[in-house]
Amino acid sequence: MIYKILLICVNIFHVNTFSLNMQINNEIQKPLYRYWNCIGFENIMDDHIINNKPFKFEVGSIPLITWQNDDKKLVSTLNACKHMGSKLDSGSICNGNLYCPYHGIKHTIEDSCGIIKKHDGKIWWSYNPIDNNIPTIPYFNDSTYVSTYLTFDMKESLPFCIYNSLDLNHPEFVHNGLGFGSNIAPENYKTYLNNPEKLGISFDYITKSSIKAINYDMKIKDRTANYNEVIYPSTSWSKVSSINDIEKNIIIGVSMLPLKENLTRWYITLRHNYMSDIVGKEIMKHATKYILNQDKSQFEKQIKNNKLKEFISWRQGLKYEYHMIPLRNYYNDYKFPSIDDFIIELSKDNW
Ligand code: FES
Ligand SMILES: [Fe+2]
Repeated sequence: MIYKILLICVNIFHVNTFSLNMQINNEIQKPLYRYWNCIGFENIMDDHIINNKPFKFEVGSIPLITWQNDDKKLVSTLNACKHMGSKLDSGSICNGNLYCPYHGIKHTIEDSCGIIKKHDGKIWWSYNPIDNNIPTIPYFNDSTYVSTYLTFDMKESLPFCIYNSLDLNHPEFVHNGLGFGSNIAPENYKTYLNNPEKLGISFDYITKSSIKAINYDMKIKDRTANYNEVIYPSTSWSKVSSINDIEKNIIIGVSMLPLKENLTRWYITLRHNYMSDIVGKEIMKHATKYILNQDKSQFEKQIKNNKLKEFISWRQGLKYEYHMIPLRNYYNDYKFPSIDDFIIELSKDNW
């Protein structure tokens, strides 16, 4: 009886926070460049530092560049020279300053555009960040976990990549074959909508024999316990545990970076505390790649005309999509980060 009352309370809580969330969402969106954007893994940056070369990157269509100065600080600026507009990525670094290849003008920390930081094995950039905290994939700094880093370019917009990450219906169709997808329904679907910037779902998912065989170090009986979370705007992570071996976890975290309207780079952190030796780690990496390639091939089939996509999408809903309403709300005002908008912002700031 007490259990039943508790259950009713939990359900009421879900409904209330759900409507609360709907109201808050529209107030939180700021341009993407005001959030932390993952622009690569630390080891790529380290290679550039060792070779004394700048590292170029783009956030949407904003061209940027970073290098390390003599105080061992990462400096970022536009990949465009303040003299006659040369790109700076083939420039040279001397005494921690970046020199333009065209006429040699010096760029220093005084020319900074945005802030650049290292965190959780990745490099992050933000312009005038709303929040100092950079999103973290769970079990960062936990020495019992091993981490593998992967990069995937997905032919899909950032919002639709995020929708995919909380889409419980696609595994049956997309992650078939050796993937984990099954036509047996998930159980215990619950939503966690009580935070204006974070949204999660949990569910138990049937375990196919192929998945049991791969996870040889985990005792999986029938189902895995899953929790998936999105942190607005670019982070998504999921945790899979065995219901009967609950201390063992695998986390797949994705830090997304939009490169074009319909092209999003996924910086993937794979983290687990079992199958942690070289062989186990390799198996986990290849299994993850296999699954991500299944998503990649679906993304290639997605409509590329954004007007048509907006016009046609979400006319029809499916089960297990209760959380999609607030999730889609997050992206109501989302705009692909364009250099045109960024120039307006820089002008306002007298940059
Ligand atoms: S264009 Fe860079 S120094 Fe002239
Ligand atoms: Fe998927």
